[in-house]
Amino acid sequence: MTTVVGPFGLSVRDQALEAHVQAGLSAVEEGLLEATKSDVPFITEAARHLVQAGGKRFRPLLVMLSAQFGDPHAPRIVPSAVVVELTHLATLYHDDVMDEAEVRRGVPSANARWDNSVAVLTGDFLFSRASHILADLGPEAVRIQAEAFERLVTGQILETVGPRDGRDPIAHYLDVLAGKTSSLVAVSCRFGAMMSGADETVVDILTQYGERLGIAFQLADDVLDIASDSHESGKTPGTDLREGVPTLPVLHLRAQVAKANGSASADDSRLCELLDGDLSDDARHAEVLALLRAHPALEQARRDTIRYADEARASLAPLPACAAKLALEGLCDAVVHRAG
Ligand code: IPE
Ligand code: IPE
Ligand code: MG
Ligand code: MG
Repeated sequence: MTTVVGPFGLSVRDQALEAHVQAGLSAVEEGLLEATKSDVPFITEAARHLVQAGGKRFRPLLVMLSAQFGDPHAPRIVPSAVVVELTHLATLYHDDVMDEAEVRRGVPSANARWDNSVAVLTGDFLFSRASHILADLGPEAVRIQAEAFERLVTGQILETVGPRDGRDPIAHYLDVLAGKTSSLVAVSCRFGAMMSGADETVVDILTQYGERLGIAFQLADDVLDIASDSHESGKTPGTDLREGVPTLPVLHLRAQVAKANGSASADDSRLCELLDGDLSDDARHAEVLALLRAHPALEQARRDTIRYADEARASLAPLPACAAKLALEGLCDAVVHRAG
């Protein structure tokens, strides 16, 4: 039988696994509501704003699936999934301030609904609650999370400052992705495996899988920023462009134009000129989006995304055949072909 798990649209063909993952994700929802409850009603409202708006719960799903390689009923699994989702959530509050984003998960972002101070402080509140839960998971979990968080923040900072002189922009971009996204995706897999008591080699395999899947996941997000509409993504299309964050489709375009050495097409020259200019202007922004949507560089970025997802799938090869492995393999396709 095939059941679709959660808003992510992953097909799980094993009834027992599906029931177990669903039960785990429900427990995570309860944990999130509990963790976002404050004595100050306004803090509860602000912290739950994005929890209740939805989201794919991609990272908790990874925790649950990775926990199938040990004892999937071990008590620290659900709390570790709550920790990764709370951490992710906190970064979304902060990221929307950095990106001046107005919409998140189909609702006004916290910075749009209230202001930047509320969004930043609510993000901090969520981090503090994640730390509180983490403390009960032991020093190793605290250290792993601290290291991942350092990588995540470093990725966000590297994106903000751009490549240093002489650094290849695509290599820089991939460093950014590994830091800001793969760090937490890999920890989700690692926590699931580790908390279930899986063998060290299995923990390492799943961590490696998460590293690669995280890159594919962020590449897909960057493609969607150009290709999808806000109804599907719950975000405003073209936010990366407006913020001047060059993602892979734009980097491919620039590399193609540089290679053409002055003989680029009129459309490509126009596109580069627009990209170099002020994209806070709505008409220019719309023109860039339309040109990029039709540009082969977007297809090239999609092919790269599939390549990383294939690498993630390949890294699972040494694991024993089981329903959870199949689901993790399926996730490689779901990540690439998602609409939001
Ligand atoms: C958004 O993450 C930020 C990225 C790392 C791309 P998600 O796409 O997992 O966002 P939600 O949780 O579903 O809203
Ligand atoms: C941000 O990447 C990733 C983190 C929140 C760490 P993006 O800026 O691409 O995420 P979205 O598109 O706003 O969700
Ligand atoms: Mg953003
Ligand atoms: Mg994005």
